[in-house]
Amino acid sequence: MSAGTNSIDVDLARRERPALADMTYLNTGTSGIVAEPIVDALLENTRFAERHGHRGYEPQKEKIEASREVLATFLGADADEIGFAINATEAVNWVASSFRFQPDDEVLISLAEHPSMNLPWSYQQDRGRVRLRWFEVSHDPAETLQNIQDGITSRTRMIALSHVERHHGVRVPAAEICALARSAGLVVLLDGAQSIGQFSVDFHALDVDFYAANCHKWLCGPNGTGVFYCRRDRLHLLDQAHVGPGSNETWDRIGGVVLTSKADRFEYGTRSFGVAATIGDTVRAFEAIGPAAIEARLQALAAGIRRRIAERNWHLTSPPDWERGSALVSFTIPEVDGRELTKELQASAGTWLSSNTGDGVRFSPHFYNTEEEIDRAFQNIERLAAGG
Ligand SMILES: Cc1ncc(COP(=O)(O)O)c(C=O)c1O
Repeated sequence: MSAGTNSIDVDLARRERPALADMTYLNTGTSGIVAEPIVDALLENTRFAERHGHRGYEPQKEKIEASREVLATFLGADADEIGFAINATEAVNWVASSFRFQPDDEVLISLAEHPSMNLPWSYQQDRGRVRLRWFEVSHDPAETLQNIQDGITSRTRMIALSHVERHHGVRVPAAEICALARSAGLVVLLDGAQSIGQFSVDFHALDVDFYAANCHKWLCGPNGTGVFYCRRDRLHLLDQAHVGPGSNETWDRIGGVVLTSKADRFEYGTRSFGVAATIGDTVRAFEAIGPAAIEARLQALAAGIRRRIAERNWHLTSPPDWERGSALVSFTIPEVDGRELTKELQASAGTWLSSNTGDGVRFSPHFYNTEEEIDRAFQNIERLAAGG
């Protein structure tokens, strides 16, 4: 048995995800599979909230604040630095649309971003709020740092990039990037949609300013569970366009609105309380399995995928190791269109991978996947690649 695979009850994880009996699902990088106890918690929290009208508000609010505490502790933050967004994209927008830029300010953004970053930032550029400059993310962390260093100008205010790039799973040297930014007087926004739940992420240790993520991929939480982190002393840099009940410390007709000094000031008005309340259940379940054991298992599964790719002389497009990469492992096969291949894999073998690497194929297994499933997926890929 390979390292890290023996401390997790994989059979239980699979029984709790009955759909895994009918499909080979190796696409957690797009969406994780939620365990039945968490589905039950979501339904129960939602039922309670919807059944009780306003009477349900206080108990639900308590659960949401408990969720905030649990998530903050898990991510090395304080609860008042955590906001609950609908998704990672919304958290990116909270930063992009409200950061107090001066005329001609620049954001240095990577060329390897998801539309979650590209669209909000391009839109801010279209609106004349900021100019974008771009840099390349390399498999070599030192080269990525150098590219960032080279891209900084006297107008740069912020560096924005994914902690783990989504196509090939490239992990950037986040702490070093934050240190570089700090020494240059800049702030950093990391998109961690592909990070939290894969390996330990500690916002305070990273010394990051803003972080956007979600719980529906690697944490196996429900949809609608976006995460927004704003370092306490950076909140004043966000001049948010939208406010409402919940955003304010005080308000009166003469004195105006005084916003709270907490990251949850973006969560105004009535919301899907049952969803936010389930974040605590999600994180507690993840912690009960063991984040270190999960990381070890992901590392082992990813190493096995790299080995199988090498054995077939296919072309690995992801970094060669865990430290520079992640459980998102991509490759290309000569003369084979990855997009067509993934479609055929779904249709003929009930196997779910992603082809969003363009001409390649991306595996993103989680702790609930087995070596046997991965073997089967490779056999099916071989068969289809050979025209079978
Ligand atoms: C790097 C990255 N950022 C953001 C997202 C989108 O996240 P959300 O749907 O929570 O906005 C994804 C989804 O694949 C992603 O890979």
